[in-house]
Amino acid sequence: MELNRAIQERRSIRKFRSAKPDWRYILECIDSIRYAPMAGGNFTLKVILVDEKEKIIKLAEASQQEFIKSAPYILVVCSDNSRTINAYGEKGESFCKQQAGSAIQNFLLKITEKRLATCWIGYFVEEQVKRILKIPEKINIEAMFPIGYELGKPEKRRVKANLDKALYFNEYEKVQMKKIPKIEGRRIGKFRNKK
Ligand SMILES: Cc1cc2nc3c(=O)[nH]c(=O)nc-3n(C[C@H](O)[C@H](O)[C@H](O)COP(=O)(O)O)c2cc1C
Repeated sequence: MELNRAIQERRSIRKFRSAKPDWRYILECIDSIRYAPMAGGNFTLKVILVDEKEKIIKLAEASQQEFIKSAPYILVVCSDNSRTINAYGEKGESFCKQQAGSAIQNFLLKITEKRLATCWIGYFVEEQVKRILKIPEKINIEAMFPIGYELGKPEKRRVKANLDKALYFNEYEKVQMKKIPKIEGRRIGKFRNKK
């Protein structure tokens, strides 16, 4: 799949078919996290692929999100921050969060390319998830990803933010474009000349 298409077609899926995808497809998606940038080249991520039904149900309860129970897999993404914090002090924690996000986006794009379905789960009780999966205290849990095949029709695409609300030139809030630019024939925002 072309990169642009994967970026634009990726979406959060919250309904899963009961069919269980071949775990090797998921492995391919997980492999993409190795290519994410990591501060100082220290790879901090640890992931746990869960396919035991009782654990999936418990993880759904720890997230208080019922739909997660119907997923045949959950990938739990964790960080071991210790080396990065040793190397970068106060900044280390933030670096670990940033690189987890970067690795997760690789994973999400591969999931899209493989026509699998997932949803980023950021809300959960961390202590509960640690207990279920025997994750040591010092490890941070970044997010969870129920994985399966999408059930039914795709959810309607959410309207994405216009770039004119996010892009400034040379200084904060300086909007400089006079014309409404298009990217590949699509409008990306209503630019005004503010200053
Ligand atoms: C950090 C983060 C945490 C999220 N946590 C949840 C969550 O706990 N439950 C959920 O259903 N969706 C969660 N989402 C998914 C967002 O709701 C979703 O990305 C957003 O609605 C945009 O839809 P899209 O992913 O289809 O573009 C989370 C997304 C992010 C980036």
